[in-house]
Amino acid sequence: MAQFTFYGHSCFTLSDGIHTLLFDPFLTGNPQAQVPESDVSANYILLWHGHQDHLGDALPIAKRCGATIISTYELAVYCERRGAKIHGMGIGGSFKFPFGRVKVTRAFHSSSIMTPNGAEYLGNPCGFLVRLDEKTFYFTGDTGLFGDMALIGQLYKPDVVILPIGDNYTMGIDDAIEAIKMLKPKVAIPVHYNTFPVIMQDPYVFAKKLGRTARAVILKPGETFPL
Ligand code: NI
Ligand code: MN
Repeated sequence: MAQFTFYGHSCFTLSDGIHTLLFDPFLTGNPQAQVPESDVSANYILLWHGHQDHLGDALPIAKRCGATIISTYELAVYCERRGAKIHGMGIGGSFKFPFGRVKVTRAFHSSSIMTPNGAEYLGNPCGFLVRLDEKTFYFTGDTGLFGDMALIGQLYKPDVVILPIGDNYTMGIDDAIEAIKMLKPKVAIPVHYNTFPVIMQDPYVFAKKLGRTARAVILKPGETFPL
């Protein structure tokens, strides 16, 4: 059984006991994080865009663990230039890694990093479909609601969907409910809320509104859940 460990915001690991995949390692400066980046290890780091609350500690962790960063091409090259091992991909593409197949999906957001000279653009933001331990996980990434989620649901039948509910920068609760109706997973895990004042949300309202559409799994930072 895969183990999902939540670190707060949209940082978590997914492990099949052999391979550990780390998503959006925002630990330093994350008010929800209970552990420093030095306590988190991974074999692969998946990044869905370059904003600081996602790229976070990816570079130090990748270098310490010898982990491969999987992301869209521009963000992957940005990391490679800073000494990380990478695997660049593009939206719609998939690749079979030792743990299973990863497919890159569209996300409606932006992807940049702020420099003293302004925003440096880092290609398209994305989401990921990950096949691990005979299950399909869909990480929507930071995104607004979009109708092609129905197609993703129909074609890839995700067992578990991890999606933002914070509003302001991404979907809020009501749009996340619509996303789950289209994707039809068994389990929905809300992320990207309560980290900053503008994304304060009650995840139990999400669970209540979801009703019997899917099972909402609400985790506190530091909690592990078998999936
Ligand atoms: Ni973002
Ligand atoms: Mn974000």
